[in-house]
Amino acid sequence: MASFLQIDEAAVSFGATPVLRGVTVSLDQGKCLVLLGPSGCGKTTLLNVVAGLCALDNGKCVCEGTTLDDPAARIFVPLRERGFATVFQDFSLWPHMTVAENVAFGLRVRGVSAAECARRVAAALEKVRMSAFADRYPASLSGGQQQRVSIARALVVQPRILLLDEPLSALDARLREELRVELSRLLREEGQTAIYVTHDQAEAFALGDIVAVMREGRIEQMDAPEALYRAPRTRFVAEFIGSANVFSFEQRNGAVLLGGRLQIPARADWPARGRCFVRREGVRIVPNPEGVATCINRQFLGGHIEAAAGWPDELVIVGEAEGPVAPGARVSIDIDPACAGLLAEDA
Ligand SMILES: Nc1ncnc2c1ncn2[C@@H]1O[C@H](COP(=O)(O)OP(=O)(O)OP(=O)(O)O)[C@@H](O)[C@H]1O
Ligand SMILES: [Mg+2]
Repeated sequence: MASFLQIDEAAVSFGATPVLRGVTVSLDQGKCLVLLGPSGCGKTTLLNVVAGLCALDNGKCVCEGTTLDDPAARIFVPLRERGFATVFQDFSLWPHMTVAENVAFGLRVRGVSAAECARRVAAALEKVRMSAFADRYPASLSGGQQQRVSIARALVVQPRILLLDEPLSALDARLREELRVELSRLLREEGQTAIYVTHDQAEAFALGDIVAVMREGRIEQMDAPEALYRAPRTRFVAEFIGSANVFSFEQRNGAVLLGGRLQIPARADWPARGRCFVRREGVRIVPNPEGVATCINRQFLGGHIEAAAGWPDELVIVGEAEGPVAPGARVSIDIDPACAGLLAEDA
């Protein structure tokens, strides 16, 4: 069966600078695709391509069998005919309209009757727990409340796809977490197809059925959150997701030698040499006067203490501090082999 949304080989340049370099993505109905990546990698541009705010130079974008953008065939469906809705980072509410009027706006322009409009606005405000604020103006609301209103405003038109561009980035950490949980519940309850842009891994994992990690205008890897975490394919993904340690390795005398210094048991399914990652939670940095490495950093992070250990040749490993390990102290390193994985050597 064809996917709900299909983007093939999407390419966009601004002047001479390519910003999307052949992006292929598909999204099934009712699922949430998260675009995750560092600043400037092209997340907003890709979202804008779907929205109809940015036209493709090459490639194709098709939703429910209808071509939205195909420069080779000279097809471009304008934004207002696509049936999508967008939530932006800065809320973008109309300041001169009340909360209810803001939410009603999209329905009014679609010619929905006053009675139907009132019913749907009330239901949408209820969903985001903002019913009590219907007659207030945006300026009298907190950032979190304003963002709830703009989510209601987007949901009320029952968009074919809901597009969200870093909707929680302007909020403080606690509020961000609270709204993340609510948004995740809302999307699932409504069965809402969505594309969500973020550079925050926690948001990506909490909200995404599928996460596309982007780098310099390309998708580096696209997978379900757990698969992405368990089996990153490239160094970039391993370091971006969960900040894993990355080493060159060599298999020798029944062991895998990591960075020429550390050992884990041999892996029959790995090549003789290559590159691998070791998750931070699989590394214990233990005080040991006979240890061969030195603790170079220690950070209390609440639930756990992270430490970095190094060797004179500048090889460094980051993991969980065990006991009173302090910078300058001799340490030994225990690695849980289950937290190590092979990376594609060429990427
Ligand atoms: N209208 C434009 N004209 C020229 N260059 C642009 C334009 N829009 C974006 N760019 C450039 O394209 C690249 C990708 O931008 P984009 O906004 O898609 O990145 P992003 O991944 O959303 O980043 P951020 O996380 O900072 O929002 C950037 O280098 C940006 O400077
Ligand atoms: Mg952006």
